[in-house]
Amino acid sequence: MKKLLLSICVLFTIITQSFAGGNDEGMWLPLLLSQKNYNDMVKHGLKLNADQLYSVNNSSIKDAIIWFGGGCTGEVVSGEGLVITNHHCGYDAIASASTAEKNYLQNGFWAYNKEQEIPAKDLSVQFLVRMEDVTEQVMAGLKDIPYEDWNKKIGEVTKPIISKAKEGTHYEAFVREMFKANQFYLFVMEKFTDIRLVGTPTESIGKFGGDVDNWMWPRHTGDFSMFRIYAGKDNKPAAYSKDNVPYKPKKFLPVSLKGVKEGDFAMIFGFPGRTNRYETSMGVKLAIDETNPSIVKLRDKRLSLMKKEMDKDVTIRLQQASRYAQIANYWKYFIGQTEQLKKNKVYDRKVSEETAFKAWASNKAEFASLFTNLEKSYTEYQPYNKYGVYMREGIFGTPLFSFASAFYDLNKVLEKSPVDSVALKATLAVVKMRYDMFIKIYNPTIDQNIAGAMLQMFYEDIPASQHPAFMSTILKSKGKTTEEKCNAFAAMVYKKTFLTNAAAFEKFLANPDQKKMMKDPAIQTALAFLSNYNDNYKKYADAFQLSVAKEGKAYVKGLMMMQPDRMFYPDANSTMRTTYGNVKSYDPKDAIHYHYLTNLSGVMQKENPGDPEFEVPAKLKELYLKKDYGQYKDATGEVPVGFITTNDITGGNSGSPVIDGEGNLIGTAFDGNWEAMSGDIAFDKDLKRTICVDVRYILFIIDKFGGASNLINEMILVK
Ligand code: ARG
Repeated sequence: MKKLLLSICVLFTIITQSFAGGNDEGMWLPLLLSQKNYNDMVKHGLKLNADQLYSVNNSSIKDAIIWFGGGCTGEVVSGEGLVITNHHCGYDAIASASTAEKNYLQNGFWAYNKEQEIPAKDLSVQFLVRMEDVTEQVMAGLKDIPYEDWNKKIGEVTKPIISKAKEGTHYEAFVREMFKANQFYLFVMEKFTDIRLVGTPTESIGKFGGDVDNWMWPRHTGDFSMFRIYAGKDNKPAAYSKDNVPYKPKKFLPVSLKGVKEGDFAMIFGFPGRTNRYETSMGVKLAIDETNPSIVKLRDKRLSLMKKEMDKDVTIRLQQASRYAQIANYWKYFIGQTEQLKKNKVYDRKVSEETAFKAWASNKAEFASLFTNLEKSYTEYQPYNKYGVYMREGIFGTPLFSFASAFYDLNKVLEKSPVDSVALKATLAVVKMRYDMFIKIYNPTIDQNIAGAMLQMFYEDIPASQHPAFMSTILKSKGKTTEEKCNAFAAMVYKKTFLTNAAAFEKFLANPDQKKMMKDPAIQTALAFLSNYNDNYKKYADAFQLSVAKEGKAYVKGLMMMQPDRMFYPDANSTMRTTYGNVKSYDPKDAIHYHYLTNLSGVMQKENPGDPEFEVPAKLKELYLKKDYGQYKDATGEVPVGFITTNDITGGNSGSPVIDGEGNLIGTAFDGNWEAMSGDIAFDKDLKRTICVDVRYILFIIDKFGGASNLINEMILVK
């Protein structure tokens, strides 16, 4: 007994240490920096005062940061609304602006004056006006409501808070849960929609290293692009107009030419998308054993079918480029996450954390059944997990079937008699929107090949007892093997569907006929898989998600009680966060040391003519040979390209400013490192690094490679 107690105590200490922030772990809420982190930041090397980081009344760093396009971050670097973000964040806008003749993706683009800037139609950016802890108000509204009904009620409860925040302004506002719904915060945002492309290097610089180097250090990618925010004459958001003027920001970041060295302070402000740091061992196991490998397998196939066609024709490549990059990015992410969850023993770590928690909770009724409930939920859900993955990533990884699934709701509306005309109008609008998204990426050959392959994989990998009855129709198609049958079925679908015919689709929209719709083989297929799911398996997924959310909320609450001295931070949820740390090298493996900085000579070492991922543009080579580096070289005479820091970021932070202790821009964050790909679930203090483009490389490319000194002149350079 004594021995047991002792080992539990030891466990406690280990866990408290591994939990207790301070290791540069943490995506902190900017509002709370002054109260929670400021002293520690100063210890790390910060020279600014807390008010310069986040303030509602005075301009502060937060006013120079934008949520870029809803999935990335950007920073304002001039008094005229000039923005830097990543190349991969501007990728869709760059590809959309490109044609076979004016191929900006391939050749780069620089606006030498404002008239040359290109409107990026679908892009918008948002500034954070302020944030506020509204936990008390929200909890008061939810007080007598069982957790099971929170989702239904939350809109009603937060509505007055949001209305009040927006009152008399042009702002947008939303409330987000934190700490698995133990707290709630209000975010007030200002959204701008007239955004223009200002500059981008060639893809051979902006995506140098491609998918081979993606998620890895050492890195030599010039992953940046530039945009400008435009506003009405009153400096307020306005729809695109040629009369709009460059936005005058409350704050913009000066740019440092000083360079970085080991140990330098570095902080990042941005909009990290999603982490699950309080995930349990059961969640880790399901991801490793089943979910991640399934996603990788399905994406593998889709990517190879896309690539085959993209390599044949530049127009197809431009059309598919952005989608391909997105699929490839998370294909590799899930490979890396699985590998590192295993290598970094995340499952074991979670189990020992849970063992300690269970010991602490053993005499507390509130938490007594937490883990037994969870175990039961995982056991009940597991047999159906794959169906959801194969439906989302496989069947609906086929653009046509994904679009066709929009007809599920339309069918429900048309089924009723009389038809609710308001609901009909709204549903048709959604169908039209989904059509526009689909047609932009539709390529008949790629689509049909993916459809055949995904149907086959579903057939082979999902238990027969779960197949929709429609599977037998598919298998009646001509062919000897399942592969031939699925492909023949897909060929029939693409030949007969009216969804790929603009005129026929418009005609249908004008007069939606349920019979015609339900005869369409693409809609039949999509609805067969979706209805089967909704009727038979969704209930398991819903019950599972509810249980994981509910017990997860209790777990975080319990952890906070168990470790009153630990500094907790909420999981990423696309709201603004700050992370701080230092420039730091690391040791990925025995006998290997990774320096914190890469240089242009490293780009040349990786050069591999003929391999599109490692091509070096002639102009860059020329600058390298002439050592024409101007003011952008460092003391060694090299142009730095990338560096790494101990900051805690995730997807969504892409494009975030890396800021020194004085508040100057030193780089732009663009990736995480391979050895810490388990990071969204567990932070590893020895291995986790943020990969940044050195701002001197950005300036060098703009100036010497792009010749856009007009942009350099707009910025404030600090020497
Ligand atoms: N891994 C990076 C991120 O998610 C994106 C890099 C894009 N480059 C690429 N080769 N896919 O932030």
